[in-house]
Parts: sequence; structure tokens; C-alpha cells
Amino acid sequence: MEKEVEIKFNGKMYTLPVIKGTEDEMAVDISKLRSDLNLITLDRGYKNTGSTLSSITFLDGEKGILRYRGYAIEELAEKSSFLEVAYLLIYGELPNKNELDNFTNNISEHTLVHEDVKSILDGFPSNSHPMGVLGSLVSSLTAFYPKSLDPNRSSDEINGTIIRAIAKLPTLAAWSFKNRMRQPVVYPDNRLDYCSNFIRMMFSLPTFEYKINPVITKALNKLLILHADHEQNCSASTVRIVGSSHASLYASISAGIAALWGPLHGGANQAVIEMLEEIKQSGGDVDKYISKAKDKSDPFRLMGFGHRVYKSFDPRAKIIKKAAHDVLDQLGINDPVLDIAMRLEKVALNDSYFKTRNLYPNVDFYSGIIYRALGVPTDMFTVMFALGRLPGWIAQWKEMRENNEPIGRPRQVYTGKNYRKYLDINQR
Ligand code: ACO
Repeated sequence: MEKEVEIKFNGKMYTLPVIKGTEDEMAVDISKLRSDLNLITLDRGYKNTGSTLSSITFLDGEKGILRYRGYAIEELAEKSSFLEVAYLLIYGELPNKNELDNFTNNISEHTLVHEDVKSILDGFPSNSHPMGVLGSLVSSLTAFYPKSLDPNRSSDEINGTIIRAIAKLPTLAAWSFKNRMRQPVVYPDNRLDYCSNFIRMMFSLPTFEYKINPVITKALNKLLILHADHEQNCSASTVRIVGSSHASLYASISAGIAALWGPLHGGANQAVIEMLEEIKQSGGDVDKYISKAKDKSDPFRLMGFGHRVYKSFDPRAKIIKKAAHDVLDQLGINDPVLDIAMRLEKVALNDSYFKTRNLYPNVDFYSGIIYRALGVPTDMFTVMFALGRLPGWIAQWKEMRENNEPIGRPRQVYTGKNYRKYLDINQR
């Protein structure tokens, strides 16, 4: 049955079409509302607003479903590699062997960054947060690849820009860590797979060659896949809106990195570990922190809990919780913070405050525990998220460009003063 929505305004009925997605999600199309009725909608935080039509990622927050291009996140996390998933997100289909080999080789050939990047890096104080450094370095790629500034170039040239982004981000991410440690940077080794190459650039020193550990590489591969895309979240929407002004891919990704940095988004993984550490140091009193989270006069929130879209469970959190146990077991690590996390989760899931508000652990609740076990320092956690999210940002940017979307420009309801006559300074 064809559906439409009727609204009554100024005594007149007006009909709005309802459109349906491939998973039967329905949306009222208000594209003509302003031109026909001089009305806009108000939706702070875009909680009910679809900003686009997209065929990249489907998620159902009630049922806890997440799929990239139709493939279930559970299967991808179990069976595929990060680069395979990146290809899927960006080009729409899983690659065959030949396509994956070409894609992988192409990326391996572009991992090196221009030597002058080191001079930029040297300019950052050693206590700079690596997310700030990473965002700046990604933006600096526009200077080394000026052709990338024009998003209207041929698809081959755009593809070159995309390949360079995927190839260079691990190098830039590892180097932002090296800057923080005031250690010499390590150059990429193109014989290694994507994850091993990154971990080696993070941890090797001139005096010490990091030995690749398959447990660590496998865990990292899984984490990156789980973070690879999440439809129109804060950072993906930022990438799309920046790109909609025809800013370059690198500028758009740099903006996405800034949006991801905040503790209500990707920065939550750092905030979770800091919170768990604080609970541990104050004697492990989980109930005290649950009470703080429920107290509206206290700004404290249970970090890693709650999600704008998931209202039953976050399927990524389920996979990551199991992976955290597996990694700690395989590496023989006993991290007391994992026990605190599990106790916190148990208490929260049985508490009516969290139950009535549908607050469950999200992707960030257990990911930090794995990063710690891999030896990644806390302020690099969000950088790890950015590394994983890159193919999603690229896919969202590419889709936005290919669909020829108009510049993103929301309206507002003005609540300021009406016209006032300008008064001379001595009349005020
Ligand atoms: N701890 C305590 N209370 C919470 C939490 C939390 N973590 N999250 C939400 N609530 C409460 C709110 O206070 C609000 O209560 P009220 O209805 O009594 O006013 C209610 O639950 C709804 O919360 P909103 O903030 O309106 O939900 P929103 O969808 O806007 O926010 C968000 C979602 C930002 C993720 C929120 O749950 C939060 O701040 N969580 C902690 C930070 C976090 O883990 N972020 C990572 C998200 S996943 C990601 O971006 C990768």
C-alpha cells in the first residue's frame, strides 16, 4: 500500500510522500516543505532526520543488526581481512582474489610519506595529543598532493587519492605516536600485511625490531573491521558535509578525525579506560560510579554506555567483549580493569535507570581493554578508531560525490532580537 503523511497547516491539508528503503525503513520526504509551505522542521542533534539515501551500511538499533553492503558484521569480523572490508565499503562488492591482490599491492606501494612530513611532525610538542597530530598530518597531504584538492578530477585520479589515504594513514598514525614518545620514526615495511606493518611502525626502535605476533595482528584486524563504518554518525556526517562544499578528500577526512576525537564519539574508548582506572584506584567501588552516572547533578556519565541508535545491544560490543577475553587469555595477561568492566556492565544491566533508558555497552566499552593488551597507550586509542573508520569515511565521501549531493546547509529557527536601531556609542 502506498503511504503518505498528511499535515494540517493554516487550516489546509498538505500531503507528504513517504519513501521506503530496501530494509523497509520509512521516511517522510519533506524536501518541498519549505518551498510549498514556508515551513522547516526542527530536530536538534538530527535524532529523527535522514540526511541522505545511502547504500553502504545498514543498522537496526532495535534488533542489534549491523551490515556493510548487506554482509553481517559478525561474518565479516570472523572471516575477512580489513583491506577486504575496506574494498567492500568503498567499491560496493567483495573483491575477488585478483582484485584484492591488486588493491593490496597498490596500497603497499604508497605507504611511504614525503620526507618533509617529518619536519611538520617535529614542530609538534611531545605532549601533543596524537589525534590532533594525525588530523593535521592528514590535512597536510593536500600540500604534497595538490591535485587531490580538486574532487572533480577523473575517477582514476580520485582513486589514487583514495589509495594514498588508506596506504598512508597507518604511517601517519604510527608517527604521531612516535612524536609523542620522542622516538625516531620507523619507515613502513611493504612486505608486511596492513596490520603488522602498522604495529611494527608503532613499536620498533633503531635498537629493537618488533617481532610480529599473529595474536595481536588478528585482534587488530578484527577491531579495525568492527570500526570500519557506522552509517551517518557524527564523524561520517562531518566528512560528508565538509566534502559537500567540494573540499578535498584529505580535508574532509581531517574534519572527520576532529569529530571522532570527542569523548561522546570515538574519544569514548580513551575515556572508558580512564574511568575504569579511576574506579580501580579508588578501591573498585562500582556502585559508587553507577550512582554518580544516575545523578543528574553530576556531569559523570558511564563512558562506553549508551548509543544514539542501538537500543537493545551493540553487536560490535558483543564481538569485542569475547575478543577481549580471547586476547587476554592468548597473551597470558590478567588485567584487573576487565573485571571492573564486567562488574560495571552487570550492575548497570540490572539497574532500572539503565534498563528504562536502553543503555547498553557500546563498541568502546571493551575495545580499550584489547588495545591495552596489545601495548597501545591510552591516548592512541582514538587514533586506532580513526584507522578503522577510514574506509567508511572514504565510502561516505565517494557516495556523496557520486550522488552529486548539494552542499549540506541546515536551517534554523531564529530566537534572537528583532530589528533594533543602531545607537551611537555615547547613546548606549
Ligand atoms: N551514562 C549515564 N546516563 C546516560 C548515558 C551514560 N553513558 N548515556 C545516556 N544517558 C542518559 C541521559 O542522561 C538521558 O537521560 P534522561 O532521559 O533522564 O535525560 C538518556 O540516557 C538519553 O541520553 P541522551 O544523551 O539523550 O542520548 P543520545 O542519543 O543523545 O546520546 C550518547 C548517546 C552520546 C552515546 C550517550 O549515550 C553518551 O554520552 N554515552 C557515553 C559516551 C559514549 O560511550 N560514547 C560512545 C558512543 S559509540 C561511538 O560513538 C563510537
